[in-house]
Amino acid sequence: AAGHETILVERTGRTAVITLNRPEALNALNLRLMEEAVAAAEGFDRDPGVGCIVLTGSDRAFAAGADIKEMQGLDYMDAYLGDWFGAWDRFAALRTPTLAAVAGHALGGGCELAMMCDVLIAADSARFGQPEIKLGVIPGIGGSQRLTRAVGKAKAMDLCLTGRTMDAAEAERAGLVSRIVPAADLREQALAAAAEIAAMSAPAAMMAKEAVNRAFETTLAEGVRFERRIFHAVFATADQKEGMAAFTEKRRPSFVHR
Ligand code: CAA
Repeated sequence: AAGHETILVERTGRTAVITLNRPEALNALNLRLMEEAVAAAEGFDRDPGVGCIVLTGSDRAFAAGADIKEMQGLDYMDAYLGDWFGAWDRFAALRTPTLAAVAGHALGGGCELAMMCDVLIAADSARFGQPEIKLGVIPGIGGSQRLTRAVGKAKAMDLCLTGRTMDAAEAERAGLVSRIVPAADLREQALAAAAEIAAMSAPAAMMAKEAVNRAFETTLAEGVRFERRIFHAVFATADQKEGMAAFTEKRRPSFVHR
């Protein structure tokens, strides 16, 4: 859309694609990019015609981190009063399922952004890491928390303390990524997975996302109770009637996303 300097946006069917586009800086996440990407994602989130939001970068880099040159001169009051990186929380709060399609570097803020997405499809060229320690800082967009939940303490400490990167295979073994695909097929496979998600009942997909995310916020008993309440609620949707009718009639469901 007009006015975007740092991203490209496109729609294909019920899928929206946001492509990070600062090739000169390996898609480093500056404030402009944060504002543009978050605003675009929120716009798609509000659009009932969008059932999945894909976030991707280039073959070389999903994103090589927050923009170091932009951050270099910050002092504490700039960072605190400016709520530096705070807008990314709005990306994590989207209700529509999100899918990261990651090739090349996903470092620092790039890794953190990929981890905010619900499904993470990695090209075999992908490399993940939290190298902030090498700059004398620490992760600031949720990396110390989401990486630890995704891969456990042992690997999270290893990555955050040494700054080393994981290749796609290690990241998949560790539970960070959903699937690995050949780099040449990344876009096609990511769009196919997104189309599959977007074709599902939108309220069911949103509720499934909300329920899975609740697992990271609460106890098992509360989480199961939360799930049960939502499970009961799905019987209020037209899509439940359609999905189960289609099954018994041996045909494909045609969801109305209500
Ligand atoms: N911020 C700003 N610019 C960056 C950048 C970043 N995070 N990463 C790369 N660039 C720029 C480089 O400065 C370079 O620009 P110039 O041509 O003007 O010099 C351009 O992108 C290409 O990068 P390289 O020449 O370095 O490419 P390479 O292939 O030799 O190396 C790399 C690739 C290993 C990813 C290397 O660029 C690198 O180490 N980047 C920084 C990675 C990093 O430390 N990320 C964490 C940032 S801090 C953070 O993210 C905090 C947080 O939690 C929010």
